[in-house]
Amino acid sequence: MKSLVWLALSLFLVPSIFAQPQGYLYDEAKVPHYTLPDLLTTQKGTTVKTVKDWETRRRSEVLALFEEHMYGRSPGRPAKLSFHVVEEAERVLGGLADRRQVEVRFAGKADGPRMTVLIYRPAKARKAVPAFLTLNFRGNHTIHADPAIRLPHSWVRGRTQGETVNNRATEKGRGVAAHRWAVEAILKRGYALATLYYGDIDPDFDDDWQNGVHALYPKPKPNEWGSVATWAWGLSRAMDYLETDQTIDARRVAVMGHSRLGKTSLWAGASDPRFAMVISNNSGCGGAALSRRTFGETVKRINTSFPHWFNDNFQKYNGNENACPVDQHMLVALAAPRPVYIASAVEDRWADPYGEFLSGLHANPVYQLYKLPGMPAAKQPAVDQPVMGTIGYHVRTGKHDVTDFDWEQYLKFADKHFKAKK
Ligand code: GCU
Repeated sequence: MKSLVWLALSLFLVPSIFAQPQGYLYDEAKVPHYTLPDLLTTQKGTTVKTVKDWETRRRSEVLALFEEHMYGRSPGRPAKLSFHVVEEAERVLGGLADRRQVEVRFAGKADGPRMTVLIYRPAKARKAVPAFLTLNFRGNHTIHADPAIRLPHSWVRGRTQGETVNNRATEKGRGVAAHRWAVEAILKRGYALATLYYGDIDPDFDDDWQNGVHALYPKPKPNEWGSVATWAWGLSRAMDYLETDQTIDARRVAVMGHSRLGKTSLWAGASDPRFAMVISNNSGCGGAALSRRTFGETVKRINTSFPHWFNDNFQKYNGNENACPVDQHMLVALAAPRPVYIASAVEDRWADPYGEFLSGLHANPVYQLYKLPGMPAAKQPAVDQPVMGTIGYHVRTGKHDVTDFDWEQYLKFADKHFKAKK
């Protein structure tokens, strides 16, 4: 009887345990002992003592290690990249925003691989405004019910019935992800929102590199771009456009992403210093969470379920995290001295909230070289109690998702850091 009561109680109190994939480590007491690679010791064993040492020697080394062993090396900007404003309107969303939709053609061809960037900016803005640049999961048209948003032309993952037909987006998808996008709040605070569908860059399935921008390049070698790096490459191409857009202040663009797209925003921030701020929302394994903890999702599991996300070299670290010359605190540190915000959710144990906090904390030595506060808390802050240094962090109530609470913190964090940059 007692055990039945206990079972009923635990089912009621901790439903999140049951929502996470089973057979993985969720017990903090069982996290193995591990030693993180030292951010301030070079491969040759010399100690990094100054910003100059970091910038001239160690930073490029760490970036190259991530390219070689994990995300993969990406090509640069294609010579024929071209931008085309395909739609534009003023005073939309009840007068709050001006809208622009821009097609970015990777090889300059209208029928070749391309992506569409949707931009809303505050209608009343007289000067160039700061922006959030964010990939979306299901098409630009899913972020808001605005009927003028173009449907994606590319392969889309089907979810709800009717939302896609043969993996093509339909009208039924309009606004289905709106709860994750605080569009009006962002605009009212004076920021633009630029978003694009990640599948336009590289469809998210193991297609042996046939589709999206990969159609233009040879099949990646074991140390070349996986899908996360490819999506980050697409963000850099969106940035190439934003730099030409007079209405956007390209020096104040925060790259933000959720989950696999949070992994992507971290890599985009690491590999492209034009992003002035980096925001990781519930990015977990391969994002902000330390791999060596093996808490929740592991390297082996992610490489098995999603073999196309990282490069082939990363497979070497399946069940062998300690052999990897990098861990995720080094990814956060690659953004320094730029601000980074890491957000976790209590019930998102698969993404290892504590491991996400720790990677921010262990990035501090690099921020300290710059005499910046980095992560301002030595211990993981209490639930729903954000902290904001040059690194920001919160673990909020609830599940793996993007909520208004998350956006509210990102807006505060952007106000804090972008105001000084005006
Ligand atoms: C899966 C995956 C995670 C990823 C998430 C998402 O849960 O295991 O690594 O972050 O999908 O992108 O939604």
